Amino acid sequence: MDILRRGRLSEEQDEAIKNFTSSMEADKRIFDADIEVDRAHVIMLKEQGIISEHDCSAIISGLEKIKKEGISVLDPSYEDVHIAIEARLIELAGEETGGRMHSARSRNDEVAACIRLSLRSELANLMQEVETLVSTIADRAAEHHETIMPGYTHTQHAQPTTLAHHLLAYVSAFLRDIERIKGAYERTNLNPLGAAAFASTGFPISRKRTTELLGFESELGNSMDAVSTRDFMIESMGSYSNLMTNLARLAEELILWSSSEFDFIELDDRYSSTSSIMPQKKNPDIAELMRAKTGTVHGALMSVLTICKALPYSYNRDLQEATPHLWRSTDAVRSSIRMAEGMIRTMKIKKERLKKASGIGFTSATELADTIVRTTGIPFRTAHHIVGSIAKTGKAPLLSDLDRLSLDLMGEKLSDKGLSEEALIHALDPSENIKMRNILGGPAPEETERRTAALNKELEGIRNDIDLMRKKADAASRKLEKACQSLS
Ligand code: ARG
Repeated sequence: MDILRRGRLSEEQDEAIKNFTSSMEADKRIFDADIEVDRAHVIMLKEQGIISEHDCSAIISGLEKIKKEGISVLDPSYEDVHIAIEARLIELAGEETGGRMHSARSRNDEVAACIRLSLRSELANLMQEVETLVSTIADRAAEHHETIMPGYTHTQHAQPTTLAHHLLAYVSAFLRDIERIKGAYERTNLNPLGAAAFASTGFPISRKRTTELLGFESELGNSMDAVSTRDFMIESMGSYSNLMTNLARLAEELILWSSSEFDFIELDDRYSSTSSIMPQKKNPDIAELMRAKTGTVHGALMSVLTICKALPYSYNRDLQEATPHLWRSTDAVRSSIRMAEGMIRTMKIKKERLKKASGIGFTSATELADTIVRTTGIPFRTAHHIVGSIAKTGKAPLLSDLDRLSLDLMGEKLSDKGLSEEALIHALDPSENIKMRNILGGPAPEETERRTAALNKELEGIRNDIDLMRKKADAASRKLEKACQSLS
């Protein structure tokens, strides 16, 4: 009978029950972290005089061997990786020694620590992936400060803009996603160890020491909270969902833009598929899957929220069911970001088509109304009325037509109030429209150039943040390694 059940329980579980109960499959993701957590815990136990140096040393070498053997050697019939490792350790070092590893802890604080450690590095990696995506988008934007295209509202031509401006909209969104991931990282990187089952322990442990050896920023302040909460998971997955929502919008636009109707871009062949029956087809399957993975990620978040909601304190086994959703969505997000980066980097942009489209749909109507206001002094709503009436006719707006409308409407010609032919031509020119919109955040090339230049510093800051996160984690793992090495 296994080392866990032999005391309290007498019946063995059959395969179906074991399969239903076990987290061994998902625990592959936390195997390495678990060894780290075990090592840090055991070193701390020795330093606090809770176990002997001899036992500590034997346990550390046993863990070393288990790490080398890998998770596949572990008995899959155990409930989870924690107990499987402990069982293997007892096999290797004997119960007199190996049986001391689990002093002053529970799997409840252990599993939370393992998930937090693994997730921490996933989040740092994700930040880097998004940073790469942002810098690729910014590079493409920098090639297109002057590339005019129609901007849309309601998927209808609205006003002229540039491709740089459009791409930089995504940059702004993804930069916020990076900040959200960073926030999630900060609240993930906290130490639950020492909470034990929930009530902490009567052994004189040092939580500060395991915090130091595992590179956590600090300890979770309440031991009941420490084992009960998965809010760090929810927050991380919330940041994924936000990111995927942004990514799905990008996917959708790439799909639309590569259709014959838009014909703004051509995706690289590597990011395209074809049809098994229609030989001419070039399909944006990668972008479509990216769009679909968003559903997977949102669904995973919803699952975890629903699993965690209304759970009575403290630990409940329900929490185990949440973890696979975390890993599944982490993988979906990471791969989607990579695909997006590659698609953007390699897509062909059809400048002429973009320009031509920007002239369709009277996209300079807003500027025409604004110009009328500025040259004649009439209220914007009146100018809006006049230009709207011209738009309704579907004809190109001539000064004589505008005059006739304004005469009808207000008894005065716009040309008598100061609107010139020249001002009209200027207002109708999409590229002049863009140049005039040099307001902070606007599409004017000077403004998008300023934005792309400022971005370099921002991205450097993000890279430094990621560097620092990794350096802290690496420094801790060197410290832990050293503590293990120095055992006699
Ligand atoms: N596999 C479990 C999980 O993922 C580990 C903690 C088990 N704790 C317990 N009290 N049964 O949550």
